Amino acid sequence: MDHNWLEQIRIRIDQALDQTLGSHLGESNLLDAARYSVLRGGKRLRPALVYAASDAVGATRDSADAAAISVELLHAYSLIHDDLPAMDDDTLRRGHPTTHVAYDEATAILAGDALQALAFSILGREDTRTDAMRVKQLRLLGEAAGFNGMALGQAIDLESEGKVLSIDLLKIIHTKKTGALITACILMGAVCGNANKLEWEALEEAGEAIGLAFQIQDDILDEIASTETLGKIQGRDQVLGKSTFPSLLGLAASKKEACALMKVATTALERVGGNTNTLQMLARLSVERTS
Ligand code: IPE
Ligand code: IPE
Ligand code: MG
Ligand code: MG
Ligand code: MG
Repeated sequence: MDHNWLEQIRIRIDQALDQTLGSHLGESNLLDAARYSVLRGGKRLRPALVYAASDAVGATRDSADAAAISVELLHAYSLIHDDLPAMDDDTLRRGHPTTHVAYDEATAILAGDALQALAFSILGREDTRTDAMRVKQLRLLGEAAGFNGMALGQAIDLESEGKVLSIDLLKIIHTKKTGALITACILMGAVCGNANKLEWEALEEAGEAIGLAFQIQDDILDEIASTETLGKIQGRDQVLGKSTFPSLLGLAASKKEACALMKVATTALERVGGNTNTLQMLARLSVERTS
């Protein structure tokens, strides 16, 4: 049942992404590079969170499409840039050469730029959402991606290479670089329906816990999974001198922390009146995933 739901979401989002990226002029490699980055794999967890949250507040699936597409486009941009030589200098992503390796650095940078811009223009498009909903979602995505969200987290992450951080600072990095966008997914879904103030706060709390737990698991997998299952080169965090949850706390305590956060999320979700089964499932998946 759960598995079917996720599979349906993946089919829906993959089709929508393919369509969204099909309607631009292809006079340069730019669109090819963007399609390469967006359409080759990926768990599609962020769009799934948008739909699950919108389900929980009784919204229609159509009204959640724009946010679901936008967040995956923005995520794809963040991965292209994260892999660049000036950032994590990675050569493998989703089992394929990273975008700057498959194309070149300038094309990868520009494909990322264009995907970020496209994310906002899709979110601003007219559909069944009211103007107020669109504006709220645009703000949520902008705030999550920018100076106080993902970009800030990425900046501190890179400035911190080679240093042993306090666990509190690492939590801030993870909360910003990964958690902000994951929280925004849930809140953008919530905008599509009728979440009251208490439900909004519960969803926000759940989003923040899921976001941090998701990145802790990413750190754990970088240490224990294989390059083949990850689709990215294993062990890069250590090579780059990143502080991670396992490097600071060890594997067992990191796992425990991720599970505790999952509990925080599932408990918070109980305060939401609607059906949160799929959100609960995604909270578990965020920490139980193997890739
Ligand atoms: C990887 O995200 C980057 C992080 C924020 C940890 P995902 O693990 O969701 O990557 P894909 O989309 O499935 O490839
Ligand atoms: C990336 O964190 C967070 C982003 C905003 C993309 P990581 O650098 O740990 O992600 P991976 O391991 O390369 O996917
Ligand atoms: Mg990184
Ligand atoms: Mg990286
Ligand atoms: Mg990582």
